Amino acid sequence: MASPVLELKSVSLSFGENKILSDVSLVINQGDVLVLMGPSGHGKSCLLKLLAGLLAPTRGELIVEGHNFFSLTEIERDVLRRKMGMLFQKNALFDSLTSAENIGFPLNETTTLSNIEIEKRISRFLTAVGLAEARDRYPDEISGGMQKRLGIARALALDPQIIFYDDPTAGLDPITSRKIMELIISLAREQGTTVVAVTNDMNRAYQLGHKLAMVVDGELIVTGTPEETKQHKDPRVHQFIRGDLKGPLTAMLESADQNHDSGARHD
Ligand SMILES: Nc1ncnc2c1ncn2[C@@H]1O[C@H](COP(=O)(O)OP(=O)(O)OP(=O)(O)O)[C@@H](O)[C@H]1O
Ligand SMILES: [Mg+2]
Repeated sequence: MASPVLELKSVSLSFGENKILSDVSLVINQGDVLVLMGPSGHGKSCLLKLLAGLLAPTRGELIVEGHNFFSLTEIERDVLRRKMGMLFQKNALFDSLTSAENIGFPLNETTTLSNIEIEKRISRFLTAVGLAEARDRYPDEISGGMQKRLGIARALALDPQIIFYDDPTAGLDPITSRKIMELIISLAREQGTTVVAVTNDMNRAYQLGHKLAMVVDGELIVTGTPEETKQHKDPRVHQFIRGDLKGPLTAMLESADQNHDSGARHD
C-alpha cells in the first residue's frame, strides 16, 4: 500500500492581512505525481513552499514521513529537507557559477560525496538534461529553456525522494516544453520519485499529472485524474481548464495584475 510522504493538515497561510490559503488538507503518497494549477497570485508557489517546509503555515500542520515538521529541531528538519529538491519558479541559479558549478555547489555544501563522485554526478545530470556542451557556460550565456533544464539538473543531482517543480515550462516554446515534461516524467519514473509540479499549461498538466488539483480563492480543489479533471463540475475548474472568457473567475482575474499571465495556457 502507498504510504503518505507528505501531508498538510488544515493548513492556512496569511501574510499580514492578506489571506492566501485557508484550511487546506492534502495527502501525497510515495510515487504520486501531483500537478497544481490555478490563477496567478492564488498561492500555487506558496503551497509548494509549504509542502517543502520552506514556509511555515500560519495554522495547521505539515507532516513529513509521519513527523510533525515544525515540531522537529532544526537539525531534524534539515535531514528531511535534504530528501526534497526544488526547481524554483525563477530557477534561482547562481549567476557567477558555470552550469557545472551550479550543480556541484549544493552537492559540496550538503553531501559528503568526494570530488570525484561530485564530478561524476555533474556529468551524469548535465548529460541527462542535454547540457553536456554547456558545462562551462554561465546562466546568462544559455537560453531560458537551458536555464530551466539546468535548474532541473541541479535539483535532481541531489537525488531527492520528493521533487517540486514550480512552473518548469513557463516561457518555453511548445516543443521544448513537451521535451522538458518528458524528461521530468522519465527521470521520475527511473528513480520512483514523488513529484509535485505547478503548471498552467494544461496540455503539459495532463501529460504529467496522475492527479491534478487547483488552487483558487484560498481553497485547494483536488480535481482527480486528467479525465476526471476534464469532467469536473466545479464552475471555476470548468472555466479555468478551458480558458473560457466568461465564468466565475472572470472578475477575479480582471482585478489581478494585468501584467501577469493569469490564466491557463493552451497550446
Ligand atoms: N513572502 C511573501 N510575503 C508576502 N506576500 C507573499 C509572499 N509570497 C507570496 N506572497 C503573496 O501570496 C500570494 C500568492 O503568491 P504565489 O506566488 O503563491 O502565487 P502563484 O499562484 O504562484 O502565482 P503565479 O501563477 O503568478 O506564479 C500573492 O498575493 C503574493 O503576493
Ligand atoms: Mg508561482
